[in-house]
Amino acid sequence: MKLFAASLLIAGMHETENNYREDCLNLIAAIPTIVATLINHHAGWGEGRSVESKPELGYMENFVSMLQLPHHKSKDLIEAMKLFNILHYDHGGGNLSTFVGKSIASGLEDMYGSLAGAIVALSGPRHGRANQDCLDFVELIMKEVGEGATEAEIEALLRSKLARNELVFGFGHAVLRVEDPRATIFYDFVHTKYPNHPLVKIAEKLRTAGVKVLSENPKISDPYPNVDAISGIALIAAGFPYSEYFPVLFGLSRVVGIARQIVYERLEARNGKGTPIIRPKYFYLGKEDVSG
Ligand code: MLT
Repeated sequence: MKLFAASLLIAGMHETENNYREDCLNLIAAIPTIVATLINHHAGWGEGRSVESKPELGYMENFVSMLQLPHHKSKDLIEAMKLFNILHYDHGGGNLSTFVGKSIASGLEDMYGSLAGAIVALSGPRHGRANQDCLDFVELIMKEVGEGATEAEIEALLRSKLARNELVFGFGHAVLRVEDPRATIFYDFVHTKYPNHPLVKIAEKLRTAGVKVLSENPKISDPYPNVDAISGIALIAAGFPYSEYFPVLFGLSRVVGIARQIVYERLEARNGKGTPIIRPKYFYLGKEDVSG
């Protein structure tokens, strides 16, 4: 993710037209090539060969064709990547990465710098890296109870984890109070296409057992699965088992939503005047007189 943010800064040094709309369109066109290049470079795939962009293939078709995976690409990979891409464009507008990108742009930093900041915001384990941690959790569950575990066994394992104050990943969201609709789409996708994949089977049982166990705790306001509970498993089942790049794929998609929102806020809002610079207010709530 740091390489991703750095790539955006460097691309901006060479390519910004200092016009939010042009930069938005150019970046959306270029981002599959930037991300495929950085993943190939970081993973050591393709022996340093540069990628050939073929936009005529289609947006995600081109991205997948530029990934120089060390093994044969499954024919379903494009479908999973498309779904992953569409479902992560934006979320409610108020999510952290979008807010950070728009805040930076509110000071009139250019599109590339604003998106570099947004990608850094997306990098944290509570945001874009959550999909990687969720996959680790499902793999851990599978290791502890075995591939053929029943829902009751998973439920018992979750209870013992909670009793030891261990984290249960993939449930809850800052604002949602139902199953994340993006998760529902991914569950349907993996259930239809990969019902026998061992991680899919565990994730499906976890989906039910997790809600059951977490709902018993009145302090938990959202006991339902979020998108990260299952998005990475869809990629693995479709032939992309490289979880360290899941957050990067999240960023590849989120750049599109944030860039469009920045165009709105800088060029269209308030009859074209744009939104004002973000200026948070902080209130001191301690004692008024700290001398005595
Ligand atoms: C997202 O897609 O940004 C995450 O679900 C987090 C959020 O919406 O706040």
